[in-house]
Amino acid sequence: MNFAGRWVIVTGASSGLGREMARILARERGANLILVARRGDRLRELATELEAATHASVRVLEADLSREADVERVFTESTAIGEIYGVVLNAGVTHFGEHLELSWSAFQAMLATNVTSVVRLTTLFVPYLIEKKREGGILLVASMAGLMPVPYQSAYSGTKAFLTHFARGLWHELRGKPVSITTFAPGGIATELTESTGLGQHFKNGIAIMGAEACARSALNAFAKRKYLHVPGIFNQLGALFARFLPQRLFAAAIGAEYRKALASLKP
Ligand SMILES: NC(=O)c1ccc[n+]([C@@H]2O[C@H](COP(=O)([O-])OP(=O)(O)OC[C@H]3O[C@@H](n4cnc5c(N)ncnc54)[C@H](OP(=O)(O)O)[C@@H]3O)[C@@H](O)[C@H]2O)c1
Repeated sequence: MNFAGRWVIVTGASSGLGREMARILARERGANLILVARRGDRLRELATELEAATHASVRVLEADLSREADVERVFTESTAIGEIYGVVLNAGVTHFGEHLELSWSAFQAMLATNVTSVVRLTTLFVPYLIEKKREGGILLVASMAGLMPVPYQSAYSGTKAFLTHFARGLWHELRGKPVSITTFAPGGIATELTESTGLGQHFKNGIAIMGAEACARSALNAFAKRKYLHVPGIFNQLGALFARFLPQRLFAAAIGAEYRKALASLKP
């Protein structure tokens, strides 16, 4: 894909991976951007930063993707701004802890954000991109947690497993059509998501964690090459390979034991 001078929408652009992908898209790949998240102040700050430093046009759409009406509005308003070429569906939330401690409303918000909004926007953008015949594409940010069961992030892991199956299934359905679907499945990344849940401290204590910028660069390279599935970083790639060939139950048991210790250390 060639993003130069084209409109790319990035959800979850107010922090972490999404913010870094937006920066690289504008600074290094010459894209015009539509930034989506709930925290409009953060998005406007980023838009100002990028418009001052690049030739990119940057627009902000404040939206809560756990709400159906906002998801529909993101499609209608973004396609009214310009002809969309790239769609980066990155917004997501997790819960690190026992599943039974996750409130029902928080679970519903997670499901709506991580799964329903992604399926809805994909379902709206695929026919749009096909009709435009500009060879555009969609990048779905899943997770390595979608490639294997992850205790203490059980519901999150389920949402990401949904995405990895959905996106790869669709990839086959869309063969020969002028649109690509790339699944991106990172391991731990140093972002607010890991810091706010306590996962960050755990990662620092042993498990490899990627910087958000390096991870964003890897995601965009995979997107530009229209890859089917991409896991960034050699450590993660080895992990994904082992997870394919070793019994997943063993993997899940090892992760569960680590996370149980991490959660115990987080308790006051
Ligand atoms: N960090 C990791 O270790 C890791 C590993 C694998 C995969 N991932 C995935 O990478 C993606 C980005 O996560 P991150 O690590 O960069 O986390 P982050 O720093 O917490 O960023 C999450 C982004 O999603 C947005 N978001 C969350 N809920 C939203 C909602 N209801 N409506 C609109 N936007 C919403 C947030 O914006 P607002 O709060 O402003 O709305 C924020 O911009 C997620 O899909 C995550 O699952 C992360």
